[in-house]
Amino acid sequence: MVRGWNRSHAKLTDWGLQQVILPKNAVMLDVGCGGGRTVSRLSALAPAGRVVGLDVSAASAAVAQDTNAGGIESGRVQILQGSVAALPFPSGVFDIVTAVETHYYWPNLAANVKEILRVLKPGGTFALIAEAYRGGPLCLIYGIIVPLIGAALLSDAEHRDLLIQAGFTEVVTKHVPGKNWICATGRKP
Ligand SMILES: C[S@@+](CC[C@H](N)C(=O)[O-])C[C@H]1O[C@@H](n2cnc3c(N)ncnc32)[C@H](O)[C@@H]1O
Repeated sequence: MVRGWNRSHAKLTDWGLQQVILPKNAVMLDVGCGGGRTVSRLSALAPAGRVVGLDVSAASAAVAQDTNAGGIESGRVQILQGSVAALPFPSGVFDIVTAVETHYYWPNLAANVKEILRVLKPGGTFALIAEAYRGGPLCLIYGIIVPLIGAALLSDAEHRDLLIQAGFTEVVTKHVPGKNWICATGRKP
């Protein structure tokens, strides 16, 4: 299943990462990294940068390590097991934090997004990328499935509020016509 996410989330991820300016030497974190494809894309897009992938699941972290074996060997990629609830980093260390198809499952969204703000450098960017939001074109399907798996389905406005309330500025959400995708970005003041 974890390897399947690498395939099934590829188009969404590639679109979402296009919404973010990635300096070539960026220091990046991908929260809820699953099988690690986003980590490997970030590493390719910022070839002089470094990427940490973090996931609460040991199975996800193991697949992400396998996916990024080359990056790990070169010292540019690190994969850790841990939760967004308590990120194992000092404050102000990352230029970019991404989270793809994972925020639905977080234990306390408001507090967890504040934790992401904490680890970003001033001026750093958070990108929350997801294939479902409430009120999107396919909201009937997702409106049934997402609550069934005990996950949170926010509307477009609630995504923006989430980032603004956490303390982000320049918050915007983007979509693709006909799809239920959302990319919410914000900048740490
Ligand atoms: C649907 S998968 C998406 C994985 C990957 N981001 C992708 O796009 O393919 C959701 C991932 O979020 C992780 N996750 C759930 N709760 C988490 C938490 N509290 N902290 C970190 N990761 C979490 C899960 O273990 C899982 O690997």
